[in-house]
Amino acid sequence: MKKANFKSNKLKLYHKLINNKLVYDNKSLNRYEKDINKNSMINSKGKLDQLSLLRDKINSIKNCELKKNATNLVFSDGNPSSKIMIIGEGPGANEDKEGKPFVGRAGKLLDKMLEAIKLNRKNVYISNVVNFRPPMNRKPTEEEIKRYLPFLLRHIELINPKILLLLGSTALNAIVGNIEVISKARGKWINKKIGKTNPCIIASFHPAFLMRQPDQKKYAWEDLKMIRKKMSELKIKLHE
Ligand code: URA
Repeated sequence: MKKANFKSNKLKLYHKLINNKLVYDNKSLNRYEKDINKNSMINSKGKLDQLSLLRDKINSIKNCELKKNATNLVFSDGNPSSKIMIIGEGPGANEDKEGKPFVGRAGKLLDKMLEAIKLNRKNVYISNVVNFRPPMNRKPTEEEIKRYLPFLLRHIELINPKILLLLGSTALNAIVGNIEVISKARGKWINKKIGKTNPCIIASFHPAFLMRQPDQKKYAWEDLKMIRKKMSELKIKLHE
């Protein structure tokens, strides 16, 4: 926006004194430049507080078999300001030990997949459908998924991503429902409002599945390219 050009020195001095930056705008009320950084700092502090509250809430879950058998809560990893959020299924043994999602073998593959489209843990945000490790690496039950779903939805709402990547059928079914199997649902943009957010949702194969079925990696690559394209369409800037 064009800076105001002060005609009178007195006026110039006055505005310097009150430390205001004038901008031209037809609406008189909008003539003072908003301090965007100040606002986003307040918002992101609010967001971090809310995330921390959510984390405490999950950690105080009662009578939960998952929590009883787990070592650590696995809440998230990555950048809470990111516009790209990734949801996996649930923590495995390594994640349970470290309290961080996707740090085992599937996580290494996920890192490689992200790197292929110039993403990494500093510019995406990662969480799971359930936040405690299911014993013996079993899939979370329908009941467990239902119990953790309000936490997951709140988590997504707080992060407010523009792109939401669902890895595998558990994440797909939890968020979108099981209208289609993952092999049919993948690679298509799905429209669904989650609370107050309206992200572009895409499902793809889970990296653990891709390790078992490497011939399916070509489809995951197609999905990653769609994400890259959407990022440029939506002009998503990568924060680090
Ligand atoms: N698989 C998942 O779905 N999530 C993790 O955090 C690790 C492996």
